[in-house]
Amino acid sequence: MTADRALTQDELKTLVGRAALDYVVPGDIVGVGTGSTVNKFIDALATVRDRIRGAVSSSEASTARLAALGIEVFEANRVDGLAVYIDGADEIDASGCMIKGGGAALTREKIVAALADRFVCIADESKRVPVLGRFPLPVEVIPMAAAHIARRFAALGGEATPRLAGGKPLVTDNGQHILDVRGLSITDPPGFESEVNQWPGVVTVGVFAHQKANVCLLGTAHGVRTLTF
Ligand code: A5P
Repeated sequence: MTADRALTQDELKTLVGRAALDYVVPGDIVGVGTGSTVNKFIDALATVRDRIRGAVSSSEASTARLAALGIEVFEANRVDGLAVYIDGADEIDASGCMIKGGGAALTREKIVAALADRFVCIADESKRVPVLGRFPLPVEVIPMAAAHIARRFAALGGEATPRLAGGKPLVTDNGQHILDVRGLSITDPPGFESEVNQWPGVVTVGVFAHQKANVCLLGTAHGVRTLTF
């Protein structure tokens, strides 16, 4: 696509959402993430819905959008594996490690990503960072552990605050809460993910390093740039 003006962020999302169709295996079930960029992918996927078996979804929101567009949604437990998982990111670094969970769907995103042979990240170029952590790190927690986990982040120099919806703690699709942690500089994403994963009460930390992207389709002013990791 060429334009005589800079593409908007929304247009970049549309561009990468469409580009991700190249990674969809005909006749297969596709792993589908969550978020505004993935919504563009779902819309594109609907144009080829007769050529795929369906999708495994990472959130109630994506399930509703897929179903509304006539794409069959399979329970994760019904598939042995997926060729590809396509999802957005809040940040992605030069090695393909990501922060995810801005849409509160990180736990199911990690589960569906784990089912897939390949993670294709779709993102506009604003998501590319040298070091993860400028975006507040989402962490899904068991509610009774939230204050303790916040103190542990404080010891690492982070400030954790409960994510609210309508003045109350946001409740995830899994019935848990989200802490957003500001002030971190995550220079060792795999080590950080491993450590926080072990804290009692942490359901999922929004660092995707052990399940990083294999490919990133980055929407830029010059079109889609394909990064491989
Ligand atoms: C959802 O929980 C997230 O992991 C999203 O993938 C991430 O927040 C990117 O969302 P956008 O595509 O809306 O920026």
